Amino acid sequence: MGNLARGYNFTMVKKIESITEKIQKLKKDRNAVILAHNYQIEEVQDIADFTGDSLELAKKAIDLKEDVIVFCGVHFMAETAKMLNPDKIVLLPDEYAGCPMADMASAADVINLRRKHPGAVVVCYVNSTAEVKAVSDVCCTSSNAVDIINRIPKDREIIFVPDQYLGGHVSRLAKRDIILFNGYCPTHARLTLRMVEKIREEYKDAPVIVHPESRKEVCLAADEALSTGQMCSYAKKSTAETIIVGTEIGILHRLRKENPEKTFIPLNPKAVCPNMKKIDIEKILWSLEDLSPRIEVDDNIAKKANRSVLAMLGDGPILPVNEYE
Ligand code: 13P
Ligand code: SF4
Repeated sequence: MGNLARGYNFTMVKKIESITEKIQKLKKDRNAVILAHNYQIEEVQDIADFTGDSLELAKKAIDLKEDVIVFCGVHFMAETAKMLNPDKIVLLPDEYAGCPMADMASAADVINLRRKHPGAVVVCYVNSTAEVKAVSDVCCTSSNAVDIINRIPKDREIIFVPDQYLGGHVSRLAKRDIILFNGYCPTHARLTLRMVEKIREEYKDAPVIVHPESRKEVCLAADEALSTGQMCSYAKKSTAETIIVGTEIGILHRLRKENPEKTFIPLNPKAVCPNMKKIDIEKILWSLEDLSPRIEVDDNIAKKANRSVLAMLGDGPILPVNEYE
């Protein structure tokens, strides 16, 4: 959608064009690439070189040739990119863009759970701090969580942190008992079963897709529980004219852009992640000018945390890392 079509006035459009021009020039001078998560605001998604879900962004971050990565997302995502690229400069244009769910579990919480369940494999959702990743055995994202669980030998207990809802969803799909931590996403908690029931009455033929960070009853009532990247693939393949989307509303921009002939209705238009909305194109420009705020990860933590990220990206069986046994 053009900026005028978005309802911006002429002055605003000129401002966006001028910032965009400066960003494009600075990007070349700095040899930088802009990555954006699917929940970012429209202008940020439009200026990014690549927009994707957590797994796609982590994979993308591995084989970039640029020296500087401008990461438009939340802190744990930029931190993961930095751990995978210790020699590159990784910028998070708003240093306060955190993820409340990632901050719900600490390394001490994980260690306590390990003590209670010796020999268990700890799977941490990528929405976690580097310290938590460092004391876990493997990471997962919402798009590969079931595959990760399936790589854990059947005789092993599994601990899943921090998201109780994604953990529960994966436990149901993989048919494995999982010890869950009690974290959750405050934005997805705004999606309720009543909303699903009500919207189904209004749009009888429309499939309902939700993110697996949603409450159990919402996941069960939906047609599919999908990562944001999987939602984009689903929308392309689906023959439905209208699709109800239960997740952070930033995804609607990409869905509408890629499928102009289809209609996408938010399950709850108030499902907005305030942290994902902190970055705008002006902040991207400033961060390219100053090469700041930079993401740094302590070497020792990064070394251990990277093991969990690389275990996720591998394909062998997953066992606890020896030193925690
Ligand atoms: P995805 O990996 O599905 O993009 O989800 C990331 C996230 O933060 C969801 O709240
Ligand atoms: Fe974290 Fe939820 Fe925001 Fe995703 S939507 S970044 S899980 S608070």
